[in-house]
Amino acid sequence: MSPLPYPIQAPPERGHGRIAIRSVRRRDAAVLRRLLTENRSWLQPWEATFPGGGGAAPGSQPLGPVIRAMHRQRKAGTGVTFVMLYDGQAVGQLSVSDISAGALRSASIGYWVSQHVAGQGVTPTAVALAIDYAFTELRLHRIEVCIRPENAASLRVAHKLGLRYEGLRERYIHIDGKWCDHESFAVTAEEVPRGMLERLGAPSS
Ligand SMILES: CC(C)(COP(=O)(O)OP(=O)(O)OC[C@H]1O[C@@H](n2cnc3c(N)ncnc32)[C@H](O)[C@@H]1OP(=O)(O)O)[C@@H](O)C(=O)NCCC(=O)NCCS
Repeated sequence: MSPLPYPIQAPPERGHGRIAIRSVRRRDAAVLRRLLTENRSWLQPWEATFPGGGGAAPGSQPLGPVIRAMHRQRKAGTGVTFVMLYDGQAVGQLSVSDISAGALRSASIGYWVSQHVAGQGVTPTAVALAIDYAFTELRLHRIEVCIRPENAASLRVAHKLGLRYEGLRERYIHIDGKWCDHESFAVTAEEVPRGMLERLGAPSS
């Protein structure tokens, strides 16, 4: 995997209706930690962990160093982390990670929202905004989203976005302490010539 051969500039806010995404900032540390702590039991079943231990429960550690690492990834051309906003308030996080340049020009997207806004379409619109950013600004060609078969809510997000099903990846990612199968979904730029937001038909309010 080779990163983009230049630093990624912090993307400006992009939005649609009540929903927006913007680059994570150092001053988001407190609000993100509060959301992670309040939503620990909501997020834990889907949280990536380290094989052999060493992971931390959501919200159990200060986020300053984590956000600094996200900025380093952006400057190294390997990923961009966004805060999801609903009516201007931070309600979750979305990452465009594992950017591979060269002949692939692909990346993965991951996400979570606070339970208090679940079911209001925040994530589908935020993912559409992020995919449009990745295809137009980063000039990526393919985005993938991998979801545990048990995660009905996240599978609904992939379905609403019309992501193409690619298949089952067995024991693919270490989640909540064990290797978990994931359903893989993807979209390439040719599939959405007018963009993901337009394909989603996102409501404006
Ligand atoms: C998966 C997730 C990001 C979806 O975000 P969202 O902004 O709620 O997305 P949507 O509004 O499109 O809702 C998706 C589905 O969630 C379910 N849902 C709706 N209201 C809900 C609620 N109050 N609580 C829980 N789930 C709800 C519904 O099945 C909905 O599909 P529907 O609109 O067809 O009924 C969110 O549930 C979440 O953060 N979950 C925990 C972390 C996680 O799973 N991350 C993804 C790992 S791949």
